Amino acid sequence: MSTTLPDTSLDTRSAAAFARAQQVTPGGVNSPVRAFLSVGGTPRFIASAKGPYLYDVDGNELVDLVCSWGPMLLGHAHPEVIDAVAGAAARGTSYGAPTLAEVELAVEIIDRTPVEQVRLVNSGTEATMSVLRLARGVTGRDKIVKFAGCYHGHVDALLAAAGSGVATLAIPGSPGVTEATTADTLVLPYNDRAAVREAFAAFGDQIACLVTEAAAGNMGVIPPGVEDGVGFNRFLADICAEHGALFVSDEVMTGFRISRSGQYGFDGVAPDLMTFGKVMGGGFPAAAFGGRAELMQRLAPVGGVYQAGTLSGNPVASTAGLTTLRLATPEVYARVDRAAERLQAEVGAALGAAGVPHVVQHAGNLFSVFFVPDGVTAVPDYATAARQSTTAYAAFFHSMLDSGVYLPPSAFEGWFLSATHDDAVLDRVVSALPAAAAAAAAAEGPGR
Ligand SMILES: Cc1ncc(COP(=O)(O)O)c(C=O)c1O
Repeated sequence: MSTTLPDTSLDTRSAAAFARAQQVTPGGVNSPVRAFLSVGGTPRFIASAKGPYLYDVDGNELVDLVCSWGPMLLGHAHPEVIDAVAGAAARGTSYGAPTLAEVELAVEIIDRTPVEQVRLVNSGTEATMSVLRLARGVTGRDKIVKFAGCYHGHVDALLAAAGSGVATLAIPGSPGVTEATTADTLVLPYNDRAAVREAFAAFGDQIACLVTEAAAGNMGVIPPGVEDGVGFNRFLADICAEHGALFVSDEVMTGFRISRSGQYGFDGVAPDLMTFGKVMGGGFPAAAFGGRAELMQRLAPVGGVYQAGTLSGNPVASTAGLTTLRLATPEVYARVDRAAERLQAEVGAALGAAGVPHVVQHAGNLFSVFFVPDGVTAVPDYATAARQSTTAYAAFFHSMLDSGVYLPPSAFEGWFLSATHDDAVLDRVVSALPAAAAAAAAAEGPGR
C-alpha cells in the first residue's frame, strides 16, 4: 500500500518544538496518540485555547474536534471555570487533607449516576486499576473479562490482546506486561453475546468482574447493540449477576459527556461499580470510581482493600470538576447533541458525494467515522473497525488540518464537540469537508 503521509519539516515552530521534544521525551509526547504516528506529519504544539478553538505556536487558529479527548464539554477556558480554579489555586493547591470541594464533587457524581459512594483518584487508569483490585478483593476471585478494542487506561491486566478463538486467555498487549499479569484476563469480541455466554460457562465461578466501556469509544465509536429488545449492557449485568461476578461499567469517556448521566442516562443499567474521568475533572487530572456502598465500604480505611493517593481529590482539580458539572445544564447537552447531529450528517454527505465508503456511528453526541470498505454497513466490534483504511483517514485528517480543523490524529478515535461549537464554527468545518473527502477518495485503502 502506498502512503501519502507528509514529510516532517522544520519550517514551523511546531516542527522545531517537536524536534526538541523528541530529544527529551520518548517520541516527543507524554501520551502516544499525540505523536501523529498513525496519520504521519508533525504534531501541532498548542499555545492556548478558547471556546472551540486551539491556537498553535505558529499562530494558527484550529477548530478543535478533540476537546482534550473529552473533558472540555463546556469549551476551552470557560470563564466561570477559570475563575473558580483561580480562586481555588489562590487558597493553596494541595493540602493532603479533606476539603469541602471533594465532598461536593462526590455528591454531584452520585446525583447523576446509580453509584452510592465514590472515591476520587487522578486518572482514568487509576480508577480502573483500583476497581479491579476492589472487585477481586470483594469476590475473592481472580479472573476478569474485557472486550477487544475497549481501552481502560494502561493498567497491566487490561493491556491484553485476545488470543485466537473465543474465551482464550489473553496475551500481553505490551512488552513489560507479564504473562502472569494477563493470565487472568479474558478478552472477548465486543457485542458478542455467544462469546460472553461461553466464557461464563467455562469460568463463571472464577470471574471477579467483567469490565466494559459503557459505549465503546476507543476503537471508534461502537454503541452497545440491542437484540430482541435487550441492550448489551443489560445482558452483561444479568449474566454477571447470575454468576456472582461484578459488572463494571467504564464511563471515563462517556460519563457526563454523552448525557448528564452518560450511557447510564440512555440504558438505565445500574452496574455494580463504575469508573469516571475526563469531564468530571474539568480539564484537570481528576477521576473517580464508585458503586454500591456495601462494595465501596470494602476499601481502606473502612475495609481491607488498599487504595490511596497523595493528590487524590486535589482541591483545584475538584473545583474545576465541580464547576464544570454544575454548568453542564440540559441546554449544554442539547447544544452538543445538535452540533454532533449536524456534523455527522455533513461528514456523511461529503464522503458520500466523493464516493468514499464509510460508516458513521454514534453514542449520543460522541461519534466517529469509519473508513471501512464498501459493503460494510455497521461496525459492531474491533475486528470490523480494524478493516478501516487508515491511509484514507490520514489523507482526510491532513486536508482538514490544512483547512484549520483539528481532528483526532487516529482513525480509531471519537470526535468530541463542546457547547461552544455553534453553527458559525461548524460552518468552517463543513466548508473544509469536500476537499478532505476528495483527498480520502484519492488515497489508497482496502475496498477501493
Ligand atoms: C474508557 C476509558 N477508560 C479509561 C481511560 C484512561 O483514562 P486516563 O487517560 O485518564 O488514564 C480512558 C482514556 O481515554 C478511556 O477512554
